Amino acid sequence: MGSGMRHSLLCIGIVCLFLGIRADAQARAASGGAQQSAVLPGANTPGSTTAGYAGSEACATCHADESNSFSTNPHANLVHLHATNGMTCESCHGPGQAHIDSGGDAKKIFSFKTASATVVTDKCLSCHAGVHPNYERSPHAKAGLSCLSCHSVHYAKTPQYLLTAEQPQLCYQCHADQKAQFSMLVHHKVNEGLVKCSDCHDVHGSFQPANLRVTADQNVICTRCHTDIRGPFVYEHAPVKAEGCMACHTPHGSQNARLLNMPNINVLCNQCHSPVAAATVHSMSAGSSELQPCTTCHTFIHGSNMNAAFLR
Ligand code: HEC
Ligand code: HEC
Ligand code: HEC
Ligand code: HEC
Ligand code: HEC
Ligand code: HEC
Ligand code: HEC
Ligand code: HEC
Ligand code: HEC
Ligand code: HEC
Repeated sequence: MGSGMRHSLLCIGIVCLFLGIRADAQARAASGGAQQSAVLPGANTPGSTTAGYAGSEACATCHADESNSFSTNPHANLVHLHATNGMTCESCHGPGQAHIDSGGDAKKIFSFKTASATVVTDKCLSCHAGVHPNYERSPHAKAGLSCLSCHSVHYAKTPQYLLTAEQPQLCYQCHADQKAQFSMLVHHKVNEGLVKCSDCHDVHGSFQPANLRVTADQNVICTRCHTDIRGPFVYEHAPVKAEGCMACHTPHGSQNARLLNMPNINVLCNQCHSPVAAATVHSMSAGSSELQPCTTCHTFIHGSNMNAAFLR
């Protein structure tokens, strides 16, 4: 992603955050009546409240569990962003005065538990669309998952990112096929904690198939870690750049050495090279190209700076 792109995403983020705040203010105006400006509730005026809003301290009197644990939540930062008067709870749950006046009528407060997936997602995205602008187009959104399929605000199980479980277990709950792939003989060490699903995928959506991430140079994600294979080389092996790594490898797991997508290297190569491999140079010693893997001679198979046939 170029820096220009980054900037525009950032700008979208700021706009969305702004719009989110505006929408809140409008809802507030509609429900409370008194507050007409876009000034945030209690902003920089400790002690003041806005019609309809009660402040987080009021919530704490009845919801000790949710309130006591909140000081370590990254969302506790909301208090600095939006107000100095503890409007944290109500940034998400909406104005709570009516709920309190009714002695805790569950219908008088926004509940994430009873809201539909789309409504939940919209709520979260009203602040997070800047970081995750592609969620709506992701396979996860299309399958009806909300942010709370993987995250929990109050009952998160991970120290980072507020997830309901650590990777890869989080993902395996729904992706049993991939669980099987990562227990094959040769595999990226995801279960061992060396590589994460999210190193290669952005589950929040991307412009690639299968939610794949891309590297800065728009290459497939693989060369971010396998930098030696990135090149450029004086002599490129065409399919590495043209078709990408998946022309010869499988990403998750395989029974074949080196995560190759075929058990036999020569069969793999001969998908594209059979006429060449059968030609004279390879028949110098009887059937040489049949009897040993092509890569015993063509060692630098991803490209070479020394030799056009990748021999060294
Ligand atoms: C006077 C006590 C009281 C106060 C103060 C209070 N609540 Fe509640 N709240 C309740 C009760 C009682 C329930 C209903 C619990 C139930 O039905 O299981 C409830 C339920 C909720 C729910 C869950 C709704 C649902 O559908 O399950 C949320 C969210 C909530 N309150 C948020 C807040 C917030 C935010 C504040 C502060 C603005 C707040 N409450 C202040 C008593 C209170
Ligand atoms: C970032 C948004 C956000 C903020 C801020 C927030 N909540 Fe919540 N709240 C949620 C979500 C999402 C749920 C659904 C359960 C979950 O995922 O943790 C929830 C659930 C609840 C419930 C229902 C509990 C249950 O599951 O029965 C209560 C009560 C509640 N919140 C109170 C509070 C209080 C009090 C505060 C302030 C200390 C607060 N919330 C701040 C998003 C938020
Ligand atoms: C399919 C599971 C899943 C869903 C659905 C999901 N997330 Fe995430 N989210 C994750 C994982 C996993 C991470 C940690 C990413 C990492 O390790 O880099 C994460 C990280 C984040 C972060 C931290 C910033 C970052 O990207 O590193 C934010 C903010 C976030 N998610 C918000 C959301 C919001 C908002 C939604 C709904 C629109 C959502 N997520 C939906 C799994 C999910
Ligand atoms: C009112 C704005 C607002 C809303 C609504 C909101 N968030 Fe956040 N969220 C924030 C802020 C602010 C942070 C802290 C960012 C920071 O510290 O850099 C944050 C942080 C996070 C993180 C990152 C935690 C980490 O470890 O990096 C996740 C995940 C997240 N939010 C998920 C959600 C989900 C899921 C929802 C909907 C249930 C939601 N948020 C609703 C403002 C919001
Ligand atoms: C080393 C990078 C990498 C890691 C780590 C990784 N994936 Fe993938 N994944 C890919 C690539 C590349 C594809 C696309 C495969 C293709 O185009 O043939 C893919 C495809 C998928 C698909 C689409 C169906 C399929 O199998 O083609 C799912 C679902 C998936 N991955 C889930 C996961 C889960 C869950 C994890 C972690 C347990 C994970 N991936 C870890 C690179 C990775
Ligand atoms: C609550 C269930 C659930 C969880 C948890 C979940 N997914 Fe998914 N995922 C789905 C569904 C449903 C789809 C869309 C249907 C499909 O392609 O299987 C999907 C689609 C995907 C795809 C795109 C597949 C394609 O063919 O394009 C990838 C990649 C993926 N998930 C990766 C992950 C990763 C990585 C995690 C963990 C961080 C994760 N998922 C967690 C349910 C889940
Ligand atoms: C987050 C870093 C990371 C990314 C991204 C990544 N890999 Fe790897 N890969 C590794 C590590 C670390 C190893 C070697 C450690 C191990 O598994 O023993 C490895 C090993 C391999 C191996 C050798 C496997 C063996 O056991 O012989 C192949 C082939 C491979 N990766 C291909 C790929 C492809 C193709 C992609 C893109 C779909 C990719 N890698 C993306 C980190 C990564
Ligand atoms: C034309 C087929 C082909 C393509 C395309 C290809 N590879 Fe390979 N790769 C191989 C073969 C064959 C081996 C095994 C070499 C051996 O056994 O000596 C290998 C081995 C590897 C290894 C193991 C360590 C090493 O260097 O031998 C890694 C890592 C790897 N490839 C990553 C990648 C990545 C990343 C890409 C995409 C940028 C890629 N490969 C594209 C054929 C290919
Ligand atoms: C997906 C198709 C594909 C696969 C699989 C493939 N190659 Fe290639 N290879 C090509 C193409 C295309 C070229 C460029 C041909 C040209 O420039 O005339 C090439 C070029 C080469 C060259 C250099 C040829 C020259 O004329 O300089 C060698 C050597 C080679 N490949 C060996 C291999 C070996 C060994 C394997 C198996 C590990 C393999 N290739 C797998 C498509 C493939
Ligand atoms: C015993 C070593 C050896 C083995 C095994 C071998 N090659 Fe070669 N290959 C060579 C040599 C030497 C050349 C000629 C290099 C030159 O001309 O500089 C060559 C040339 C090539 C070329 C380029 C041909 C041209 O016309 O320029 C291709 C493509 C090729 N090999 C593919 C393969 C494939 C595919 C296999 C496996 C089926 C294979 N080779 C097995 C040694 C080998």
